[in-house]
This record gives sequence, C-alpha cells and structure tokens, in this order.
Amino acid sequence: MSFPSGFYWGGATAANQLEGGWQEGGKGISCPDICTGGTATTSKRITPVLEEGTFYPSHDAIDHYHRYKEDIALFAEMGFKMYRFSIAWTRIFPNGDEEQPNEEGLKFYESLIDECLKYGIEPMVTISHYEVPFNLTKKWNSWVDRRMIDCYLRFCKAIFTRYKGKVKYWLTFNEINSATTPMGGFLSQGILNEIKAMDFMDQVDNPNNRFQGLHHQFLASALAVKMAHEIDPNNQVGCMQIMATSYALTCHPEDEIVNQQKGHLMNWFCSDVQCRGKYPNYIKRYFKDNNITVHMEPGDDDILAAGPVDFYTCSYYMSNCQTADESKGTGKGNILGGVPNPYLKASDWGWQIDPIGLRYSLNEIWDRYQKPIFVVENGLGAYDKIDEDGKVRDDYRVDYLRSHIQQMHEAILDGVDLRGYTPWGCIDLVSASTGEMAKRYGFIFVERYDDGTGDFSRRKKESFYWYKKVIETNGEDLD
Ligand code: BG6
Repeated sequence: MSFPSGFYWGGATAANQLEGGWQEGGKGISCPDICTGGTATTSKRITPVLEEGTFYPSHDAIDHYHRYKEDIALFAEMGFKMYRFSIAWTRIFPNGDEEQPNEEGLKFYESLIDECLKYGIEPMVTISHYEVPFNLTKKWNSWVDRRMIDCYLRFCKAIFTRYKGKVKYWLTFNEINSATTPMGGFLSQGILNEIKAMDFMDQVDNPNNRFQGLHHQFLASALAVKMAHEIDPNNQVGCMQIMATSYALTCHPEDEIVNQQKGHLMNWFCSDVQCRGKYPNYIKRYFKDNNITVHMEPGDDDILAAGPVDFYTCSYYMSNCQTADESKGTGKGNILGGVPNPYLKASDWGWQIDPIGLRYSLNEIWDRYQKPIFVVENGLGAYDKIDEDGKVRDDYRVDYLRSHIQQMHEAILDGVDLRGYTPWGCIDLVSASTGEMAKRYGFIFVERYDDGTGDFSRRKKESFYWYKKVIETNGEDLD
C-alpha cells in the first residue's frame, strides 16, 4: 500500500481558530471575534456588542500569532509536505472596505509563508475561512450585498500579488456549501439578519439572503480564479466543500428521491457552479418550490462560465441518512441534519464516523468533475487527556485517521485522482461549531482550556509520532 509519489501529506487550520492576537498588527474585528464559547450540548452565542467578563475564544485562540515558527517547526518534524491555512481578511483589510491593504498583516503572512518554504512545505491558502470583517456585516449584511465582490477581489489582489511565486494553491471559500444550511448564514457568510445577541444554533434565518449571498460568492470566486491566473499562470485555484455523504435510509424509492434532492442541495449545488461554471437545473426547481428569488445581473452567466476552478477540495468528517418518512427519523444524524445510520458509531459530538463513505464520495466527485481532488479536512474531535507520565494517548484518533487513509487509498486504486490529504486541526485549536477547546483534533496538544486557563504550551501526542511514520513511508506503514 503506497500513495502516488509527490502526494501532499499535511495538515490544515484556519486563522480565526488558532491565531489569537485579535487586535494586534492592526487587525480589525471579524465575525468569529464576536462569538462566545459553547459546549457539546449548549450553543455558543453571537454577541454583536462584546460583553465584559465573557470569554471569546478567538481573541487569544492558541496564540499561533506569536508561536507560528514553533508550530511550523513541529509540522516540519512530522514531515508535512503541505500546510493549509487561511489568511484573516481582517489582518489585510481590517474593516473590509479600505482601499489599501494593511502592511503589517501582509508582512505577518509573508513571514509565515517563508517559514513553510524554509522546510519545503507547500502552502495552500484558504482566502476566506469562516471570517468576514464584522464591519461589512454591520454595513451591508455581508454577502447579501453585491459590493462585497469588490472588497473580496481587492483582498485577493493584495495577497495574489504579494505572495506571487511563493503560494501556488488557493481556495476561494472554505466550505462554501455550508451556506445551504441555516447554520452557515453567519458562520460562513457573515450574514446576520438582526444585529442582536442570539444563540449560534438559533440564528434569525433568511434563506433568500443566504442564496443571494452564495450567488455573489460564486461570482467572486469565478473572478478570483481569473485574476489568479492573470497574476501568475502557475496559480491553481480550488473550491472547498463540506462533503456530507448521504445515503437513503431504506431502498424505498421515496427515500432515494429525498436523498438525491438533499444531496443535490448540500453536496453538489455549489461545486457544480464552481467546477462547471453554471447553475445546475435542479436548483431552479428548489428555488421555485421554496420561494427563493436570486437577483442576477446580465453578464453574470458569462462571469461564472469564465471562472471554473482548477481543482476540487473538500472536508470529510461524517455521513448521514435521509428518509421521506419523518416519523422514522428520531434524533439528528449529526450537525448537518439527516437521521442516524444504524450501522455507524458517532463521535462524542454525534458526528457519525464512516470511512467507507469517503471512498464512496471521492469516486462520485471524480466521476462528476474529472478534476484533481484534495481532502483538505478530516479528523476526529475528541476529549484528550494528559496522562500522569505526560503522554497523550490518542489511539482513537489514530484509528479514525488510519481507516480514512485506507479508504482514500482504495479510492486511488478505483482511479480517483487524489493529490493530497491535510487532516483538520493538525494542532489543537478552537472548534468552529461550538467554540470549545475541549473538542481537540490535533497531533499536538495545546494547554489551553475552555475557562481561558492554560499557558499555551505544546506537547506531542502519540498520534504525532504515528503520522510522522505515515508520511515517512508515504502511507505504507499505517500501524
Ligand atoms: C469544518 C471547518 O467545518 O470543520 C473548520 O472548515 C472546523 O473550520 C472543522 O473547525 C471541524 O468542526 P468543529 O466544529 O468541530 O470545529
């Protein structure tokens, strides 16, 4: 068992979940900066006005802003070939709508990128990872407004030109399809339909705004692809989707149809637009049935057609089941909805673990688009503990990752053009959905806890040594 030579083994993070330094280097306030922490069972809160005495996890996160050299050295020690990270929009354009970029922010990422290159680690940059300048939310309700496209493109131009020749792989929007669910409205798009405090899981939803926002993001993505190629023909730009593999709960044809419809909306709509450069027909019926009207301008079709992405990437954590019979589905399948699969176990956060679903979906993606694929997120959020001898024995994480790597290998044997694997949260960081530190994914344990204590020190978990060996043997030794 071996992976293709040059396979990109690595890890992935996002600025707002690990950097901290929320007001340093001229950084502006971003949407995650107004979110409190939560737990596995209680929702985090969105507080447009910061509350005194409340803990905001992104403000210090794991202090990567001051420790990135130490962290990248640890990634290099594991043998990373690729590091996927995001650039905080608010470090480059603190309010989002400035004319000129913030030099201090540009310098920070330049130094971070140089640090990767020093170790031969290929950077993959997510341009926008769940982080919209809060000023743009207040001003225009974020992506609902078409003027966001210009702000985003100014951001792209600043980073494409500054990092030309150093960064080749770019992703336009993290998990863009999360905005097909109410949760993604604020998390992914920065859309806040009422500027008031509310539970993250109980947002004031407006589907029309979300789909209008997506239309603007599709245009921005297409124009960014074009710009990236013009600035440097070596640039490769990808889309990034949540792949939420879904199965019909039974072989009843009605379950199959519901599954197909839900799958179209969640898994294929956004990537169809971004990979094929046009809206699929099925979404027109969905818009009609759900009274959604997306305003499009003449010429938008041409913009989309001129900017399909070069490659496809996704996160993969779980799968779910769909049924037409609502009475059958007691309980939620996982955070993305659906109903529980009787054949699968779930993580402590209720995410159903399904390695074979990854092979299945990689085949589907490849058949549909015939574009190179990267799995840019995958991993197990779990409660870790430091044993008395100082070790973190996370064999459950190794089991999870091993079984997914095995299935990726099967997919490659099936003929899928899979180029890389960057598991999520290669170092412990703040959870996007709950705001917790307790939900850990890393190969590196960070002493930071949900009550704001901890000295941020780093410690290698058992999985660190395991993953190092996996990379060294190009996936041959998974024991
Ligand atoms: C993806 C996001 O949804 O999953 C990440 O791109 C996120 O930002 C990751 O952290 C894991 O989710 P969570 O909620 O466990 O942090």
